[in-house]
This record gives sequence, C-alpha cells and structure tokens, in this order.
Amino acid sequence: MVSEQSVLLERLNEQPADALLALIALANADPRPEKIDVGVGVYRDAAGNTPILRSVKAAERILWETQETKSYLGSQGDARFVELIKPIVFGDGAVDDERIVGVQTPGGCGALRLGADLIVKADPKARIFVGTPTWPNHEPLIGAAGVAMVDYPYYDKAATTIRFDAMVDALNGANRGDLVLLHGCCHNPTGADLDLDQWKTVAGIVAARGLIPFVDLAYQGLGDGLEADAAGARLVIDAADQALIAQSCDKNFGCYRDRLGSLFVKMPTAEGAQKVMGNLLGLARTMWSMPPDHMAAVVRIILDDPELAADWRAELVEMGARIRELRAKLAAYDPRLAYIAGQKGMFSMLPVNPQQVLNLREKHGLYMAGSGRFNVVGLSDSNVDYFAKAVIEELDG
Ligand code: LMR
Repeated sequence: MVSEQSVLLERLNEQPADALLALIALANADPRPEKIDVGVGVYRDAAGNTPILRSVKAAERILWETQETKSYLGSQGDARFVELIKPIVFGDGAVDDERIVGVQTPGGCGALRLGADLIVKADPKARIFVGTPTWPNHEPLIGAAGVAMVDYPYYDKAATTIRFDAMVDALNGANRGDLVLLHGCCHNPTGADLDLDQWKTVAGIVAARGLIPFVDLAYQGLGDGLEADAAGARLVIDAADQALIAQSCDKNFGCYRDRLGSLFVKMPTAEGAQKVMGNLLGLARTMWSMPPDHMAAVVRIILDDPELAADWRAELVEMGARIRELRAKLAAYDPRLAYIAGQKGMFSMLPVNPQQVLNLREKHGLYMAGSGRFNVVGLSDSNVDYFAKAVIEELDG
C-alpha cells in the first residue's frame, strides 16, 4: 500500500522549462552552422565569444594568491564590496549617506527576490506597479514573494515607442505607499529607456503621490556609460522617501554564472535604515544564508585598485561602444529597423508576432525570445548581415 507520505511529491504538476533559458539548449542543439543565438542576454565580442574580462582575470589571480581563508563572512556578504558599489549606483555623494543600506545578493535575481520579501514582510497587502512588457522573470520572482502586481502600460511594440502618457496616467492612479518597478537603464526586454525629461516627470509623480520606486539596475554601463545610465534612477530615488534598488554585476562585470548583485534600500533616516538592514539580514539568512563570495571578492579587488578599476571601466566603455555600433549597423538596413539605433543596452524587440519568431528560427536558425526580443550583442561582425536580411525578409512577409 502506498502511504500518504510516499505520494507527496507526486502531487506536483509538470512545469514548462523557462522559455528564455530553454532557448540556450535549443540553439546549441541546432546543427546549422549559420544559426545565431540572440536569446539570453550575454555580451559577445566581435568573434562571437563571451570572454572573461581582463580586469576580472587579473583580480582572480590576485585573489588566488592572497586569499587566506574561506571562513564565513555573514549574511551581508562582502561589506567592502557593497561599500564600493554604493557610489557607482547612487553617485559619489552617497558614500557616507547612512540612510542607504545594502547587502550582497546572488545576482540581480537574488536582490529582486530579497526586496520583494522585505516588502511583504512590511506589508502583506503591498502592491507594485509593473510596466508591460517587462522582463519575464519579474512576475515569478516578485509575485512568488506575494507582492500584488498591477500593470502599467510601457511600450508599444508595433509602434516601437514608449507609451509614456498611458504610463503617467497609470502611475497617477497609484496610492501612497504603492511601489513602482522601474528599469534603471537598458530596458529588458525592449531597449526603450525613458529620457531624462520623462524620468523627471516620473520623479515628480513619485514625490507627489508618495510612491516607492523599486529600481532594477542590471545593465549599468552598457547603455551610455556608468554615470549616464544611473542618472534617471537617481532622480526618482532622490524624489522618494523610501526606495529599493536591485543591482547586478552579472553583465557589467561579465560574471553571469557566478551570480553577483546587491540590494540597496533608502530610508528617510539612518535609524530607519538600520532597522531595514536587520530585516534584510534576517531574510537573507532564511534563503541563502550567505551569498557566494568569489565574484564579490574579485569586484572588491578591482574597485579597490585604481589601475584595475580603470581597466574595468575601459572594458565597459568598449562593450557599450560595441553595442551602439551594432545598433547603428542594424538600423541602417531598413527604415523599419531604424528605431534600434535610439534604444539602449543589450535588447531590442522586433515588431514580429510569435509565428514570425518561429519562422525566423525554423527558416533561418535565429533564436530569439517569443516576444521578438533579441540580444543585439549576440550578433557578431560576420553574421549581422545575415540576421538583418532574414528579419527584413520576414517583415516583408
Ligand atoms: C536575460 O534577460 O536574458 C538575462 O537577464 C538573463 C536571465 O536571467 O534571464
């Protein structure tokens, strides 16, 4: 006889594979030499490789030679890493700002989930306004913690423009204490970022309505540079009494699988911030206890060393320039692709339907998300032409 306990896990339903991550395997399994994986967001150089950064390799060498213990650090992770990332996110003026506290997290996902758990702990009925479309993992990450999600219109895929008036109308319908999820830069999946005037308008709404921004800052430095990419987010953070910022190093330090990020929270007072810190540490302890150390130590070594830090900044400038160059190339192929040049970061979204996405995959070996999102920098110098021609053929029908 089968006991109750032995059937427990058999009650689980089958789950579909994560659509974005499944694309990696699908593309790998395609034998066609001309196939192109523009699915998941990883940087590729002109030869199509995702190399480890020079500065990271150098710091890893130093770490290997000098690290004397792997004993526990605690739930905050590497405190010096957090201290060094703080001015990159908030500006040099924030270094001593005790109203802002932060902890190291496993990637940007860890930061988003920790932030969502913090919100639910403070108010199980909290609501967050989320733009449509948004990164497909936002909903499961934040929703699984129990934060109620309310859509606001963000992007018109067919028109390839931001629906700013509709976004403003929706945010004007939010109540004091509601959260609003904002992509700090390099919007994922559309590449369509607010301009500074639009950020100012959003900051005005945040201040007037007492909203709490939750900024996802996963691509800082890959748009227009480290400072420019944070400028809009800093406006809304300054306008708010309270704010959460989920930061990721996975893309701008190219350390994807090593998982490095941080969650910062701004409060009105240093005392309030300390209380939040205690809660963050407690929540982290219940999830991952302590974040993985390796990349935090590496980034700390880089940012603490003026020469390595300068080299990392130079590498980041190079990555950003390559992305902008590929955007300009694609935009020049056809007026229907011209919008790509004005967008930022790794992603843009093609004005195609799911059937056209499938056609591009089956006929041409182009692997992109079902939404039409593609990783611009998944292209190499030798296949950008093939990609553009295939897309134009599909758009022509
Ligand atoms: C992406 O959107 O491709 C990246 O953020 C990778 C991921 O975790 O989905």
